[in-house]
Amino acid sequence: MLCMMLLASLALPALSSLPPATYTSSPYSSGSLPPPFTVTASDGTILTESSLSSFPLVFMNYNSTDPFSIQMFSDASVASFFSAANFPLQTTFLFSATNPSDLSSISAKLTAANTIGAKLLFAADLSTLSSSVLSSWTSPILTVAPFEGESFPRLDCYYGSCGWPSETQTSPLIDGKVGCDEAEYPEPPDSSTYVVVEPLDACTPTAAAQAAAAAGFSGVIVVQAPDAPLEIISSADDIDALDIVATMVPSETKEALLAAPNATLGYDVVPGFFGSLSAGGRLYEVGWEKLPVLSMLMWHAQWLEFKAQLDSSLAASDSISVPVFSADLMQEAASATLQLPVSESELRARGMGKMEVEFALTCGGPLDSDCSTWDHVVTLTADCSGGALGDEPGGAENELARWITSFRRGVGHFLTDATPLFKSVFAGADQDKPPTCTFKIQTEGEPWLATVNLRFTEGDGLPLQTLPVVYSNTAVKFDSDAYNENRTFAFAAPAGGGRAVLSALVTGHGGCEFLPSAHFWRFGNGAALFSTTDAAGGSFMNAGSPFGCADRTHEGAVPNEHGTWYYGRNGWCDGLDVARVSFEVGRSLAWGATNELAYHARSYDVGGGGESKGGCGGYILMSASLAFY
Ligand SMILES: *[C@@H]1O[C@H](CO)[C@@H](O)[C@H](O)[C@H]1NC(C)=O
Ligand SMILES: *[C@@H]1O[C@H](CO)[C@@H](O)[C@H](O)[C@H]1NC(C)=O
Ligand SMILES: *[C@@H]1O[C@H](CO)[C@@H](O)[C@H](O)[C@H]1NC(C)=O
Repeated sequence: MLCMMLLASLALPALSSLPPATYTSSPYSSGSLPPPFTVTASDGTILTESSLSSFPLVFMNYNSTDPFSIQMFSDASVASFFSAANFPLQTTFLFSATNPSDLSSISAKLTAANTIGAKLLFAADLSTLSSSVLSSWTSPILTVAPFEGESFPRLDCYYGSCGWPSETQTSPLIDGKVGCDEAEYPEPPDSSTYVVVEPLDACTPTAAAQAAAAAGFSGVIVVQAPDAPLEIISSADDIDALDIVATMVPSETKEALLAAPNATLGYDVVPGFFGSLSAGGRLYEVGWEKLPVLSMLMWHAQWLEFKAQLDSSLAASDSISVPVFSADLMQEAASATLQLPVSESELRARGMGKMEVEFALTCGGPLDSDCSTWDHVVTLTADCSGGALGDEPGGAENELARWITSFRRGVGHFLTDATPLFKSVFAGADQDKPPTCTFKIQTEGEPWLATVNLRFTEGDGLPLQTLPVVYSNTAVKFDSDAYNENRTFAFAAPAGGGRAVLSALVTGHGGCEFLPSAHFWRFGNGAALFSTTDAAGGSFMNAGSPFGCADRTHEGAVPNEHGTWYYGRNGWCDGLDVARVSFEVGRSLAWGATNELAYHARSYDVGGGGESKGGCGGYILMSASLAFY
């Protein structure tokens, strides 16, 4: 019950509903086949629906009057695109422009910056794709419209640094003049009033927005200097720096705004800017237009390359796959009781040495916009001995695997090692008898469709015994050193010696979500200290970093989600499986004797610096086990 209550805090508060879902039906969804198309690139390459079935293709139609597109091609954005670690070099990036005269400038800019051999193509005419896919996969252009006036494109503050407006909202306006000095602001007439400021060169747009926030306004419209391109207010480095809505508009809108009693922040719907084809030639949505950076295409391409690898591993024939759930509705939970089609002796006789869980998470409809908004833990437990089910969502003794839902995207697909738990599935005494198990998959609140297959392949070997690690202290709250008390587990190691694996699923939530943590285990007075920092430091120690999870799209983290998916988390990412942290511990055990395993955790400031602490104010979901081989 404690876990259930604490999990509710995993979802972030609803700051906004942007970016808007501009299409709610389309004949094309992620995974569907594309219509016939022919695109001739400027270098003569001809792309058709059947010409590219082994490498992904990501395409973009650039619109030089849309501030989001312009930002994507800023110098900083282009430089960071080409300097990404794990750049997806197999993917072709195809660019076109809604105004053909823009093509040569974006082509020159990208080609000059491409020192890494990225595959870039440019095409004057994307019409066979835009008349089909992109005409239904529409994009939003965010606008501001003074009362009874024409609307202008706007560029919102960096998402995550500030609040965003509702998809469409009308706010009274007041003139804040230059807006650089908090003391010179008028009193906000009421909480809905937005202030219009024009800092010119007196201060930066971000400084003006900060002054407007300090003066008590809930929203600020910053007018850019004449002829200057719109720029992002605040930045990725200022997480939560501004708690007001802040947006930027071009200089020529100022007069109309100040002449109007109010203005409507809304959006226009135009043909889509983005689309993609997987290595298997299937269409995929690129995700939500959240961060105006060219890297949004790169993250998506990394994910497509991950997906290509995953699909080819799954197609390998030397495996046994046992369907457990097949797009089953999981609202709170779903469960399935089945007898596995194979016995332990049969798996061993066939040389199987690995147990994995394949998991796909989809939504009630075919589009990302059909998906639930918030991020929650998903946990799979198996009860194969006829006993009671563990009822905690995450951290249960019999937890086979754990994932986190994405913010409103329906494409997560993972293959996660669960070999150390083999003997909790094949738990019966009779190794010739296939086990009967109740599998339960659980999440919080919102509905998702879960597909789960248990998969057996060749590998390093299946354990002979799986032993859950349990302590007398079962607290999950990690807010003081009390969490670390009474965390010694005594157990008998089998006689004979050999291989032993200590493995754990560990994730930090609530107040611990954005703070790094480390988890340590030691056997008796042994010299070896096994730590998450050594085994998977990046996953835990990058919590709270601006792009800690964007850096993991090449591992399968779903890109371009609807929320702040890109920030690093404590042992997890939105739209990703939780990798089991594993250690070979055979040499640290007294085989054939009683052993003691001690555990403790520490937490750190963002960046990992400073004194380590006994707590991050939230809670840790942990399930650990020992497997003997
Ligand atoms: C390009 O963006 C402008 C907004 O500045 C919009 O009015 C126009 O419809 C867009 N064109 C296309 C083809 O998307
Ligand atoms: C905007 O201003 C007009 C004109 O004063 C007024 O009629 C309208 O109600 C205002 N809208 C909102 C939502 O405040
Ligand atoms: C640890 O065990 C001691 C002795 O049984 C007990 O007094 C203490 O409250 C326990 N602490 C926690 C956090 O469980």
